[in-house]
Amino acid sequence: MARQLDEQIAGRFPVGQRLRVLDVGMGQGTQALRLARLGHQVTGVEQDATMIAAAREALAAQPEGIRERVRLVQGDGRDTGVHFLPGSFDVVLCHGVLMYVEEPDPLVAGLARMLAPGGLLSLLVRNGDALAMRPGLAGDWAGALAAFDTTAYRNRLGLDVRADRLSALTATLAGIAAPLHAWYGVRVFTDTAADDAPIPDDLETLLAAEERAGRTDPYRGMAALLHLCGVRG
Ligand SMILES: C[S@@+](CC[C@H](N)C(=O)[O-])C[C@H]1O[C@@H](n2cnc3c(N)ncnc32)[C@H](O)[C@@H]1O
Repeated sequence: MARQLDEQIAGRFPVGQRLRVLDVGMGQGTQALRLARLGHQVTGVEQDATMIAAAREALAAQPEGIRERVRLVQGDGRDTGVHFLPGSFDVVLCHGVLMYVEEPDPLVAGLARMLAPGGLLSLLVRNGDALAMRPGLAGDWAGALAAFDTTAYRNRLGLDVRADRLSALTATLAGIAAPLHAWYGVRVFTDTAADDAPIPDDLETLLAAEERAGRTDPYRGMAALLHLCGVRG
């Protein structure tokens, strides 16, 4: 995911440009802090108090030069228009959030409005075209059959959430003047790994295989997650 994002940033902005990044639903701030460490100016929005506390703690452990480049805002990602001026970011991330939002289009439209012309919108969503893969590979045949005709699913936390289909989000992005520029699969081979699976010794090879599959048809279309990159016209 990080490598895909860096590839898109490198292809779009001059090397060394300090970018204004908005990370909506930043969680504990993994990408936000990584991008701040790379020199960018990052604003993180997160609605969950526990998550934002974790992000604050992680930020506090960073050197001052990085801390001063990060701003954390507790709030709902659907309200970006309340907190920020339209067109005031070069990159907007919304990773792992659309699953929890009943109506994705207004959120995505609001995020696109935050982008300056030529800015990059990076969405990470559950792949609604391949929902049968997880139950199917687990031998849950009834679950696999049921997953073909829906975008609703129960996640590993036991929450009833929703997935997004590539065609629907492609149409949404076109309709809000941030057309799809590139897309990748994420977690093609590793989706069935247990949450507490140990990091394998051959992690680099695993990542190389995932990265290759994530940019290659037909593998990327069967990934658990889709990484969509739109560009503001
Ligand atoms: C699965 S985590 C992903 C965190 C991070 N973006 C990442 O990729 O690792 C989803 C996060 O989105 C937050 N979230 C969900 N809906 C939100 C909303 N409407 N506004 C702001 N944050 C939201 C959740 O609290 C959670 O921290």
